[in-house]
Amino acid sequence: MCGIVGYTGSKSAQPILVGGLKRLEYRGYDSAGVAIEQDGELEVVHRKGKVEALEHTLLHFHFTGTCGIGHTRWATHGRPSEANAHPHTSCDAQIAVVHNGIIENFAELRENLIARGHHFTSETDTEVVAHLVEEEYARGASLLDALRLATQQLVGAYALAVVSAKEPGVIVCTRKDSPLVVGVGEDGSFVASDIIAMIEETRDVVVLSDGQFARLTSESVEFYGEDGNAFEPIISHVDWDLDVAEKGGYPDFMLKEIHEQPRVIRDTLAGRLVNGALSIDELDLSVEELNLIDRVYVIACGTSYHAGLIAKNLIEGWARIPTEVEVASEFRYRNPIITPTTLVVAVSQSGETADTLAAIRDARVKGARVFGITNVVGSPVARESDGVIYTKANKEIAVASTKSFLGQVVSLTLLALLLAQVKGKLKMNQVRLLFSELADTAHQVETILEDTTAIDRAAAACVDATSALFVGRGMGAAISYEGALKLKEISYLHAEAYPAGEMKHGPIALIDEGFPVIAVATKSPVYDKVISNLQESKARGAMIVAIATEGDEEIVKHADHVIYIPKVRDVFSAITASVPLQLFARAIAIKRGCDVDQPRNLAKSVTVE
Ligand code: F6R
Repeated sequence: MCGIVGYTGSKSAQPILVGGLKRLEYRGYDSAGVAIEQDGELEVVHRKGKVEALEHTLLHFHFTGTCGIGHTRWATHGRPSEANAHPHTSCDAQIAVVHNGIIENFAELRENLIARGHHFTSETDTEVVAHLVEEEYARGASLLDALRLATQQLVGAYALAVVSAKEPGVIVCTRKDSPLVVGVGEDGSFVASDIIAMIEETRDVVVLSDGQFARLTSESVEFYGEDGNAFEPIISHVDWDLDVAEKGGYPDFMLKEIHEQPRVIRDTLAGRLVNGALSIDELDLSVEELNLIDRVYVIACGTSYHAGLIAKNLIEGWARIPTEVEVASEFRYRNPIITPTTLVVAVSQSGETADTLAAIRDARVKGARVFGITNVVGSPVARESDGVIYTKANKEIAVASTKSFLGQVVSLTLLALLLAQVKGKLKMNQVRLLFSELADTAHQVETILEDTTAIDRAAAACVDATSALFVGRGMGAAISYEGALKLKEISYLHAEAYPAGEMKHGPIALIDEGFPVIAVATKSPVYDKVISNLQESKARGAMIVAIATEGDEEIVKHADHVIYIPKVRDVFSAITASVPLQLFARAIAIKRGCDVDQPRNLAKSVTVE
């Protein structure tokens, strides 16, 4: 995902910008660029591909300018290309802008700007900002005011940093729903989307809030609130070492990535509701073709397969299309029924899992349309699918998938809504209502992350167990599989998941005094049935940990530990209930002394069969 870095000071900007961009590489990107003030002009250099390619090119220029901005881009609007790489400039090339986020009303703004005589050189949403700032500047506003007036016209999420050849040595910046940090150093001032980008230069930082602005010069930084009034910021001193800095201050990548999930939900949904209708342009299928789809296979491995189990409930429930979810290593070796109206959805975080790729190839040979859902731009899954939805998780470093799983679930939910919309199974107002409730889950996940006391207590009670059962019904069953996988892979505690109704067909024999049963018992049409299953387990001595809906007092009678999560529509409980199960698994693993980021025997990408 995109990254921003900016510097103005007494040193040469080029190595500082390149160094910052390198530190942001972990986020994943497809192109990089810088704009540096040099001899009264802005020199803009872009490269598709790695920062190293940009660095190589810059070596030929030897820019000595001491003010500039840089960016790593992960394509959203417009394909990965040199022309679409940031910084983007105004018509007169005197103003350059870098941007993270999505400007949702860019199409309308762009049309109006073109009508007013502006010339565009990229397909991006970002370029409108450069032209809007240019217009306000031409009307006599300062660079800071021009940015403020420009942002008043924007709908969407943004972190923005802007430089102008007409105000040398000045960087102005602001944010809304996308992080931005300002650094105050001995040799100048810094701005970046992540502290990590500036940590080698300064450790005194101000984290901007939504609607705040900063004006950086080599000697000082001025801060302004949403109302335009200057304010004295609280400067925080970051004393993390580099390793911790890369982890954003968290003790491990897994926890950092779990905490990124509200952002992943927001980013995955950004720009998807266009004029009140759901839109997934990347799928590259006409409405007529989508309408013909009469069977869906979701193929994937591991955690991604569990995202598929959740999708089955949604696609069948909303779009009424028969949906099968299959482990890719099985799918590839049988002879599934595939016709030209079959849609195969291949889900893979890494985009390079060998079995999933083989299944894609097989499905295409048999005539299916294949959509990929992946986290890695340009990965084999993306390249070999007919259309692709990118989950907006950023690079996932911990081996156990957390944030990319949530990104997959949200992307699959969008796909299910789209199919239902196209097939007329949901009315437009129903789609909009569901979309808005889906968006609300970002905040609900934040609430869950705020207080983990109940999760830690339940984990402490299970830490010495040798085995555990995860149970649920409906959505709860699908989530249980993922809960059990997370626990076994990072804590090495044996765990199984079953639909709760299956307990009495065998697994209940395992239960004796103190045996942990972790139940997804959120409010749903099958809540009472889950409670009956818990009573059966409790009667045999099980220690019950229940994930339950806030306000449910009944559950306390049946469970030893209750982890409450906010009330959501049952179909969205997959998103909210997964989060405490991730934290529960991590807490047990930590207590058992395991390396949660790199569990034994596992690799992040499984590129062999
Ligand atoms: C578990 C986990 C794995 C992956 C599986 C598929 O936390 O990460 O089970 O989900 O190896 O990988 P991708 O999604 O890259 O195809």
